[in-house]
Amino acid sequence: MEGTRVMSWFEAPLLAIETSCDETSVAVLRGRTVLSSIIATQIDLHQKWGGVVPEAAARAHVESIIAVLHEALDSAGLGIPEIGGVCVTNRPGLIGALSVGLTAAKGLAWAGHMPFLGVHHLEGHLLSPFIEHDVPFPHLSLVASGGHTELVLVRQFGDYEIVVETLDDAAGEAFDKGARLLGLGYPGGRAVQELAEQGDPKRYALPRALARDPDHFSFSGLKTAMLKLVETEGERLEPASAAASLQAAIVDSLSHKIELAFDRWSECRALTLVGGVAANKALRTRLETETERRGLPFFAPDFKYCTDNAAMIGIAGSWRLAAGQRDDIDLDCHAQSPLPSAS
Ligand code: KG4
Ligand code: ZN
Repeated sequence: MEGTRVMSWFEAPLLAIETSCDETSVAVLRGRTVLSSIIATQIDLHQKWGGVVPEAAARAHVESIIAVLHEALDSAGLGIPEIGGVCVTNRPGLIGALSVGLTAAKGLAWAGHMPFLGVHHLEGHLLSPFIEHDVPFPHLSLVASGGHTELVLVRQFGDYEIVVETLDDAAGEAFDKGARLLGLGYPGGRAVQELAEQGDPKRYALPRALARDPDHFSFSGLKTAMLKLVETEGERLEPASAAASLQAAIVDSLSHKIELAFDRWSECRALTLVGGVAANKALRTRLETETERRGLPFFAPDFKYCTDNAAMIGIAGSWRLAAGQRDDIDLDCHAQSPLPSAS
């Protein structure tokens, strides 16, 4: 495809590990073909606290990493001796959680004298559509999850620039906080989506913040407006319409900033939607329609590659290892880290 650099992928079977937050995940890839991708989620564990507890997350990773590793290898039909390289999320994320995956990856790479590489978690999300598609460059990518809401200009593999970022909450947080106010539990994105299907998105007026600011998203005002709505309506509140109105406000805000960005970066040749919130059907449909109206293709990964997973880390690790990049075995992990760029 014109504009897509012909990329070579790491040829030997590659093991990828992701433990940056609350999913323990291991995948095996050959090239960009995912041979297996196993995810052990900790959602049940964190549900009772209404959010991720870092110490509990790290312990749960320790408890499941070996089993998940074996399951990924078994399901790929391979043993450790057949693996040719190891990559792992080493930034950004919860330090205790990251350390578990990093330590496991180092042990495997060291014992097997294998090429080893640390991967930026967001690069994994950004490249997740490449598991199934060739996306032309340059393109815009909306990364929307519980911890991130960024619109990224993707010039090439490894060359990323954040062009719109959030001043406060992430889009996933807006879903989760709204869900909590509606008594839908944690994490609430999917529950809001399901309840919204029976509601009227125009029933309640909720804010679309900073409509004239092309550089920022903001979702904290939406959370306050939801709180006020729940308090003032009390028993009269129609939960399905409140969920539908919340979802419409989030989708409108995201879509509007993307439209502004396409006007500014008119050389962009596609839009991708990645991260946990990419599982939202209303958002996928809106962005697909708007992008196609511009005559451009829209790509979102399969649902199983939207939330945190090791297959996307494998894709990012695969092109970097194929390009000859390696890390030393004393690699560290980092809670915060800028996105890789060419400069
Ligand atoms: O990428 P992810 O698994 O973890 C983070 O890095 O945060 O994203 C989790 C987020 C949560 O906020 C969750 O509510 C949201 O993704 N989410 C959704 C849907 N499925 C997951 N939000 C809206 N609609 C969904 N269907
Ligand atoms: Zn993530």
